[in-house]
Amino acid sequence: MWKVRLDGTDEYLPPFALGTWDIRDRKRMVQTIRLALEMGINHIDTAEMYPGAEETIAEALRGVDRQGVFIVSKVLPYHASYKGTKEALEKTLRRLNTDYVDAYLLHWWDGSYPLEETFRAFDELIDEGKMRYAGVSNFSRRELEEAVRIFSPRPIIFDQVKYNLSDRRAEVDILPLCRKHGITMTAYSPLWQGRYPSPEKWRVLEMVGRKYGATPFQVALNFLLTRNRDIIAIFKTENPDHLRENLDSLNFELSPEDVELIDRTFPA
Ligand SMILES: NC(=O)c1ccc[n+]([C@@H]2O[C@H](COP(=O)([O-])OP(=O)(O)OC[C@H]3O[C@@H](n4cnc5c(N)ncnc54)[C@H](OP(=O)(O)O)[C@@H]3O)[C@@H](O)[C@H]2O)c1
Repeated sequence: MWKVRLDGTDEYLPPFALGTWDIRDRKRMVQTIRLALEMGINHIDTAEMYPGAEETIAEALRGVDRQGVFIVSKVLPYHASYKGTKEALEKTLRRLNTDYVDAYLLHWWDGSYPLEETFRAFDELIDEGKMRYAGVSNFSRRELEEAVRIFSPRPIIFDQVKYNLSDRRAEVDILPLCRKHGITMTAYSPLWQGRYPSPEKWRVLEMVGRKYGATPFQVALNFLLTRNRDIIAIFKTENPDHLRENLDSLNFELSPEDVELIDRTFPA
């Protein structure tokens, strides 16, 4: 598995991160986080919005070298005033039982507060050692340009956006802008959030997968990541078998014909 370099930093991260939205069984999630770490996936994604997720991560990381883990959390836009951002991060740190997050993101921007306020808080929180890097999520092109302008000269390290075979808008819209500004695009819901595409489209992935001994999920992840080796896919699973399956998705090369077929079936 290759590593993705985060521009403007000395960080290298795996092409996969583990998400923690919608945990159904906390004990299984703890086991899956621990297994992910053993398998080299040290980038864990969470948010104040995800019920019980930050506490679950804290439980999974008990006894684990904190410096070896890259934790990302997010502030809700309606908490993202100057003061509210600082308070939200304090609560997140308490729930995570840690002194700092590696990256702190504005979950989305709804205009509740000017971006300048949120970023002023981010700036000070970085200086205070409570977050290492700042990022954004669900930012449009215009919002991203605005964020870069306001936060400069400090880097925005991520724009975390939805990206999967059935919704490839980010590939056309956001990825080129991320590249221009040295921002890493992190792709959430790469497995359709468990809501799979139509049976006909699914059959195409099954058919392609059979040639490589791969499942449709592996074909999907392979297609998304091998063509864009500078992005990171954040999938969620609390099933160790699914974790292994997903991490095993980059060890084959789709033929140009199969790439074209997938492209046609799931147009960008
Ligand atoms: N910034 C944002 O606004 C935003 C929005 C959405 C998500 N996110 C982040 O991105 C993460 C991932 O996105 P997501 O949770 O929406 O969707 P996802 O990763 O596309 O899909 C997760 C679903 O797929 C299932 N799954 C995973 N691997 C599988 C496999 N190999 N075979 C069958 N089923 C499989 C999981 O069930 P099992 O647990 O049973 O495996 C779960 O139900 C989230 O957890 C969250 O951290 C961010």
